[in-house]
Amino acid sequence: MTDLHPDIERILIAEDDIQRRVTEMAEEIDHDYKDAGQVVLIGILKGAFIFTADLSRKMKVDHSVDFMAISSYGDQAVSGAVRLILDLRKPIVDRHVIVVEDIVDSGHTMNYLYQTLMGRNPASLKTCSLFMKNRDSLEVPLDYVGFELPDVWVVGYGLDYADTHRTLPYIAELKKEVYS
Ligand code: PRP
Repeated sequence: MTDLHPDIERILIAEDDIQRRVTEMAEEIDHDYKDAGQVVLIGILKGAFIFTADLSRKMKVDHSVDFMAISSYGDQAVSGAVRLILDLRKPIVDRHVIVVEDIVDSGHTMNYLYQTLMGRNPASLKTCSLFMKNRDSLEVPLDYVGFELPDVWVVGYGLDYADTHRTLPYIAELKKEVYS
């Protein structure tokens, strides 16, 4: 049995279940892109670094990996404001692109990414998120989704609380006393 970190209320998704679902998502992507030639996975830092690495290693279709960093939470004054902190190394014009997120919560980050990347004229653009809390404010298609999560503070598998707990292998609910 997994030893629980003391900040954790309960495990929501076990490590084995995450790995199984990531394998299924990789197989789905392999199927969809079998005739596409090379694909570009764009992992969104920091949260998606673990999912991007696991998904990439499970995918069989030819692909490269690039990263962008976006900040959506924290000191923003305007609700929904996101900031581009790190951009891609290479242009994506005429490339088949998949944006890889750890979680869609308010949807602001994915909305911003979709509009920004579409403006760069890729051959195609799809969206992929391992976790999703709320589809209501998402204005763009979400093509690959792993799990829906309840509206509690979740950590693990890339998701953080104040930059901690990202490397827990499972997804867990944080104890309320930790963040309140
Ligand atoms: C998280 C997560 C997504 C975004 C989703 O990133 O990794 O990128 O929030 O939220 P939204 O749907 O409400 O926009 P965060 O800004 O916490 O940065 P991090 O990935 O560096 O932890």
